[in-house]
Amino acid sequence: MKLFLDTANVGQIREASKLGVIDGVTTNPSLIAKEGRDFKDVVKEICSIVDGPISAETVAEDSEGMFKEAIELSKIHKNIVVKIPMTAEGLKAVSRCRGAGIRTNVTLIFHPNQALLAAKAGASYVSPFVGRLDDVTEYGMDVVRRIVDIYDNYGIMTEVIVASVRNPLHVLEAAECGAHIATIPYSVLQQMIKHPLTDIGIQKFLDDWKKVPGR
Ligand code: E4P
Repeated sequence: MKLFLDTANVGQIREASKLGVIDGVTTNPSLIAKEGRDFKDVVKEICSIVDGPISAETVAEDSEGMFKEAIELSKIHKNIVVKIPMTAEGLKAVSRCRGAGIRTNVTLIFHPNQALLAAKAGASYVSPFVGRLDDVTEYGMDVVRRIVDIYDNYGIMTEVIVASVRNPLHVLEAAECGAHIATIPYSVLQQMIKHPLTDIGIQKFLDDWKKVPGR
């Protein structure tokens, strides 16, 4: 499973990319707003750090506006994937983007039928939001599992990005479901690295090493 970082913070992206485990980055308007920087500047900088798909989201609500934004965003870098919300206007824009050779990530997916439609319109990626579903007492990962099954049934090439990831269990379950990608906050990446037994083990090795004569 590929791992994307779900942030627009270039400090975190630089740090995480050194680990050699990050395959791409996803951003959204909220994550961009947190950084207080020019949108295109941030996206350009992210593209210079990670050599993989970088999602940048449109904010227009009509397909014409979305398509125009998609063209502009796709000019920033060859790795840009245009993120488009799951609406009827969004589907129209995705379909036009496919015709224009622009890759898209259909976002705010909360039901397998939405993922089916997005794939049929030509989305390169779909982003089901597991955390936000869990928040309203719906089992988010169940939606992911059903999307993966549907895509498998028909050999659909659209890749599933598990989004709205809140903890390491979400990542584990995403991998178990056979999702293609999980996009994770920097904090979850750090949680995945750590295990108390690893820390205890390191401490024991270091303590024992002090007893080795002539070290
Ligand atoms: C990524 O594509 C999404 O925009 C992001 O994962 C949403 O996460 P949140 O529900 O924690 O805001």
